[in-house]
Amino acid sequence: MTSTQHADLVIHGGRIVSPDSERQESIAIKDGRVLAIGAPDTMPAAHETLDAAGLHILPGAIDVHVHFRDPGYPQKEDFASGTAAAAFGGVTTVFDMPNTLPTIATPEALAAKHVIAKEKAYVDYGLYAVLGEPSLDHIDALVEGGIIGFKLYMGNTFGKVPSPTTGAMLEAFELVAPTGKRISLHAETNSIMERRETRLRESGRTDPLAHLAARPDVVAVEAVARAAILAEWTGARIHILHISSSAELRPLAEAKARGVDITGETCPHYLMLSSDDYERLRGVIRVNPPVREAVNQEKLWAALEDGTIDMIATDHAPHAIDEKTRADIWTVDCGFPGVETQMPLMLTAMSGRQGSIRDYVKWSAEKPAKTWGLYPRKGALDVGSDADIAIVDMNRPWTIDDALIQSRAKISPFHGMRASALPIHTLVRGRFVMKDRILQEDSRGWGGSVHSIQAMPPGEVRNGETTMAAITSHDPFANIEATS
Ligand code: DOR
Ligand code: ZN
Repeated sequence: MTSTQHADLVIHGGRIVSPDSERQESIAIKDGRVLAIGAPDTMPAAHETLDAAGLHILPGAIDVHVHFRDPGYPQKEDFASGTAAAAFGGVTTVFDMPNTLPTIATPEALAAKHVIAKEKAYVDYGLYAVLGEPSLDHIDALVEGGIIGFKLYMGNTFGKVPSPTTGAMLEAFELVAPTGKRISLHAETNSIMERRETRLRESGRTDPLAHLAARPDVVAVEAVARAAILAEWTGARIHILHISSSAELRPLAEAKARGVDITGETCPHYLMLSSDDYERLRGVIRVNPPVREAVNQEKLWAALEDGTIDMIATDHAPHAIDEKTRADIWTVDCGFPGVETQMPLMLTAMSGRQGSIRDYVKWSAEKPAKTWGLYPRKGALDVGSDADIAIVDMNRPWTIDDALIQSRAKISPFHGMRASALPIHTLVRGRFVMKDRILQEDSRGWGGSVHSIQAMPPGEVRNGETTMAAITSHDPFANIEATS
């Protein structure tokens, strides 16, 4: 065997999981990619080997919804602490949200964030740009500058990114549709929840459940339906973030049936927590959209299982302890960390439901990669795929302790929950970023932006003759006047 056939690393003894198989096989890695998968005696010689006997080998999770707060809020998180948390959670790619300071609405802000992320990241990442009035003039420049997609806030949340009117939203969809980029939506209708919050405050309510009362299901379902109509009209691709209620499933499923290019995610907190937990957790559970009545949980699980909901993401939204423990619920920052605990909690919950680990791989890796044009480089462990790998002990009971998580946000509603699975090693493009539960600090800066490998088919514009650009670019009578 010549030296060029040497692998950098061969992992023996693990159980390799894909959406349609589980195989006890070895996996060889070279130059960051999967070189071979098969019986141990078919593997090339390797510079390094790893014994994964008794462990499961999964494609690293792709978390398409995290807030790493960099630049702007270092007391909450930065790109190093956030991506370290990802590494400990078996997450090898994250898509970071644009509600930083400054907001990522201009090519200049995007370029500055690329520099920060490149210097600090332990795992691969995509960067979102905000879609709204401040960015409408920069759509093409933002695409050129290297984004994974756009984020549109239909409702206000942390960072006070103004929510566009429906008119501005339609124009935004028209502008993004031809680029082929997907628009991820915070689908909560601002005018409904703002009005309700004002009334609740006037009535003197400051208790945790007042937050849920301000944002009932209708806030989300109206937004999902409206976004789907605008996507259908313009041909824009959309993704519904953090689906929290069973009510949202109908407009989502109906839009899919009409052929709208629409996908959806839910998060562990909507599957595992409910309104019954507000009294115990108080401000810690405050998140947008809110955790809802327990009756939603089973329907969200069923929607994941039947494919109506495509994937799991976390909305990892770190805040400092004092920002989460204020007595008046309206002054508590919304969100909590989750990127590090998603995989253990989901695998644990699924084993209790007799769920298949293959389904988990579909929701955490394959679907996100396919939805954003990264498959099969990402989201799969086939020959030629990036060697983005989570090596997991499926039989390791432990208790989540906020004090021990990598994220700077040492407060979450998951504190004290029992889990039965734990990622032991995480590799990004063949390199250990977490090994034996130890952060590989020399891998800081190893992460890179995945926009350069994104391959989305071009957008299919609909109703192009009615777009704002089309109707303002010419006078339909100009020719007639010129010739008369
Ligand atoms: O609760 C939330 N917090 N929901 C969001 O959509 C944003 C997030 C944040 O950035 O803190
Ligand atoms: Zn979010």
